Order: sequence, then C-alpha cells, then structure tokens
Amino acid sequence: MSHSTCRRFDHIVILSGAGLSAESGVATFRDPEGIWQQYDPMDLATPEAFARNPSLVYEFYNARRKQLDDVAPNAAHCALARLCREYQGRVFLVTQNVDDLLEQAGCSEVCHMHGELQVALCTHCGERSIAATAFDGDSQCVHCSEAGGLRPDIVWFGETPYHMAAIERELSTADLFVAIGTSGTVYPAAGFVQEARWCGAHTLEINLESSERADVFDEHRFGPATEQVTQWVEEILAGQ
Ligand code: APR
Repeated sequence: MSHSTCRRFDHIVILSGAGLSAESGVATFRDPEGIWQQYDPMDLATPEAFARNPSLVYEFYNARRKQLDDVAPNAAHCALARLCREYQGRVFLVTQNVDDLLEQAGCSEVCHMHGELQVALCTHCGERSIAATAFDGDSQCVHCSEAGGLRPDIVWFGETPYHMAAIERELSTADLFVAIGTSGTVYPAAGFVQEARWCGAHTLEINLESSERADVFDEHRFGPATEQVTQWVEEILAGQ
C-alpha cells in the first residue's frame, strides 16, 4: 500500500497520455519507435503545415484513424473504467490521447483536451461531425454541406487545447492528481501536476520510466500501464 492508496480521496484528477494506449498497439510520440521519431511534427501537426500541404496532413490522420479499427482497450483502460464505476469519490479523466479506447472500455465522461481522431471540424460552419475513416479537402460537411472546410478535430502545436476552463476548475479542487503514460514534455498538460500541488493535491506518476516532470510528483509507480494502473486501481478501491 502506498500513500495514494492508504487514504480515501474525494476528488481524483487523472491525466493520461500516449503511454496508456501503447500496449494496445497505438504508437507513442517520443519513444524510440514513436511517431515524432519517424515524422516531423512541424510538417503534420501545425495549422501552418495544414495550410502548406493539406493532403499530406489528411493522409497522416486518415491512416491513424484507420489504425483505430485494429486496436482495442487494454487492461489499463479497463481498470480506469472500473475506477470510474466503483470509486465513491469524484474521478475526472482528462486525456491528451485522440483515440477512443477509454470510451470503448466503458468510460462515459472523458475530457479530450487535444481533440479526437474520429471527429471532423468544419472551418466553414464550426460544427463537428463523426469523421469518415478517410476524408479530405473535397469532403462535404454534413451540417453546412460545404466542401473543402473539414479538418481533423485535433489540437495542433500552437493551438489552444480544449476544455481548459473545466480542467483548471478540476485541478483547483482535486486532492489527488495522477499522471499516466505521459512524458511531461508538452504544455499546458505537463504543468497540471504543479497546479494540482499548489492547490494541495497529493501527486502520483504512473509511467514506464521517470518523465520530464518526475521531480514534481510525490509518488511514482514505474512499469507498463497494464500492470501498474491495474494494481493501483485494485489497491485504491480496496482502500476506500
Ligand atoms: N506503460 C506506461 N507508460 C508508457 C508505456 C507503457 N506501456 N509506453 C510508453 N510509456 C511512457 C513513455 O515512457 C513516455 O514517458 O509514455 C510516455 C509517452 O510520451 P509521449 O510519446 O511524449 O506522449 P505524450 O506525453 O502523450 O505526448 C503529449 O504531445 O505530440 C503531442 O499532442 C501530442 O498528446 C500528445 C502530446
């Protein structure tokens, strides 16, 4: 039993990153086989890149969206779904991930701060729609019927993440902050641990290895998410 499992918390905020979905076969970004080791994010994940070469960007996200057909939630996703179902306190899930594996595992409320792969955003009417597996500059918006305005509903570098006001509210009243499978290199998410600490929360990092922000966390659990998250959820549910 560790500090985060030998007392009851009223309000837990859990931030997740690519490491949560790694064992489902979804590539992370900065690990040796990571996406940004193979591609330059400045060519694929900025508004400027999209303006410069939209078909390259459509292709990249169509391929990532197609890959989602072949992956399934892993034990860590399922453990978090169980925590949301069975924990007597409040559990708020915010994720940097754009896959829907938490929802597939049964999590009903997931705050996607970096957007979602399976959603298209129309830059003409501002509406969102379920994205076809593959769409491009000729695709029509189901709301305004205009073509040429659909973009992946992904928050790119240089853009403001979604739901920041709600996230800040949650961080300000959390008594436990947990980060799972994130390298702590991308802000504002990488700064959440400090904000939660300033508001008095105990902080726990669950990651394969120590992240860039490891020094800010009170507690660490290192190892694959499928093992560490499942173990931690088991303990915290037993301790409540
Ligand atoms: N279990 C637990 N942690 C893991 C596992 C695993 N099986 N595999 C990898 N990790 C850890 C790595 O050690 C690393 O610290 O997950 C982290 C993944 O880090 P990144 O690849 O940097 O992903 P993330 O932190 O989610 O990236 C943040 O950057 O590219 C942008 O918008 C994108 O949301 C993304 C953001």
